[in-house]
Amino acid sequence: SKAEIGLIGLGTMGAALALNIAEHGFDIAVWNRTASVTQGFHASAGELAARITPTETLEALVEAIAQPRAIILMVPAGAAVDEQIAALRPLLGPDDLIIDAGNANFHDTNRRTRDATGPFLGIGVSGGEEGARHGPAIMGGGKRADWDRVAPILTAISAKHDGEPCANWMGEEGAGHFVKAVHNGIEYADMQMIAEIYGILRDGMGYTPDRVADVFARWNDGPLQSYLVEISGKVAAAVDKKTGKPLLEVIVDAAGQKGTGRWTAIEAQHLAAPIPCIEAAVVARNLSSRRDARAEGERLFGAGPVPMGDAVPSEAALESALICGKILCYAQGFEMIAAASEQFGWSLDLPTIARTWRAGCIIRSAMLDDMATALAEASSRNLMFADFFTRKIQDSHADLRQVVCAGAAHGIALPALGAGLSYFDAMRTARGTADMIQGQRDYFGLHGFERFDGRKDQHGPWAG
Ligand code: 6PG
Repeated sequence: SKAEIGLIGLGTMGAALALNIAEHGFDIAVWNRTASVTQGFHASAGELAARITPTETLEALVEAIAQPRAIILMVPAGAAVDEQIAALRPLLGPDDLIIDAGNANFHDTNRRTRDATGPFLGIGVSGGEEGARHGPAIMGGGKRADWDRVAPILTAISAKHDGEPCANWMGEEGAGHFVKAVHNGIEYADMQMIAEIYGILRDGMGYTPDRVADVFARWNDGPLQSYLVEISGKVAAAVDKKTGKPLLEVIVDAAGQKGTGRWTAIEAQHLAAPIPCIEAAVVARNLSSRRDARAEGERLFGAGPVPMGDAVPSEAALESALICGKILCYAQGFEMIAAASEQFGWSLDLPTIARTWRAGCIIRSAMLDDMATALAEASSRNLMFADFFTRKIQDSHADLRQVVCAGAAHGIALPALGAGLSYFDAMRTARGTADMIQGQRDYFGLHGFERFDGRKDQHGPWAG
């Protein structure tokens, strides 16, 4: 009998996804550009091999799948996807569905959807290799009817939260990949804020990696329960096999990035959506890789971080600051999604997105469950104004301020937490300072301004 689905690209993620599909009882046909990879994959699939059909040509792959076909592409984002589509589409029937499951830029997915000569879906898959193998979060984009065709397979293989699949249709065109990009932007900010707290513990408070590990492990049992806090504790506890030193002492402090967080920051500018925590996290990664410049700066100006002495914040204050920063970051991320939804006419549903992120993905956390509930009940699309989180912020913003002040006083850079605090302060300042900006704009360019009294005279005395 023929396979129910096909998969192209047996790299780490593709192989894991194929095994996951087979394990859930679906027959799958697979193909990789290098035939030996396909054979090796099949040979090592153990008892799942019976559900997997290895194929050596694209034609054989297509032939092995039942009609109407569905084929998942798990190839590197970018040109490889276009090339694969170009090679595959002519072999397919008019109802055969191509699903790009890589980390595509959603603009590419929009274009591929428009140009597609047959059904096409772009789906965001999160959770790394482990997630792909045992249950990722899946963010679907494209035509709802196409999603519905493969939803039985995608929901079966996805992560579950209290039995509810973390695989959902987000919206038309590139909506799935867009939501995945914002997920990754939030991922960057979550990671950065944890790293900033680690900086305070290490440089301000003199904690050894072991003690840092204990702090994160404890926090993972509280309101900050999340995959990223959990693994941060594990990273801090890890020992380097080669040297016996704490692993954190041997890892170079320069962060890599494939670019999804950066795409989010760029897109936020197009949408005029304020996401300062995420932008700060992208900037921090960029700065981290400029190690020579930072060494030169330290030589010229002296080291930034100095021990905090008696001024150390309590661990409870640090935990509370991280909670506050996290809420503010997610408030920004969800607002950006709402802005995109309007701009692109996508009707993205914020509670569904929060629900989809509750398990399987990298940013999964206990708090996302509360966010799903809060966003469903809130009249505002900003989490800050949803009762449950309004109260959380009321309880924690003083701690965020204390921690950011302590960082500033002791030379410890806290870009994402600091950006969160500034966002918070801006968002609770009814009378801002843009009157000055408007005055300046009118002065040099007669751009005009609105008046509080509503009068028509919209220029300063410098206007002729
Ligand atoms: C996920 C991750 C995944 C990958 C990122 C890493 O949700 O599973 O986000 O997609 O780890 O692409 O991104 P950087 O290389 O940019 O850190």
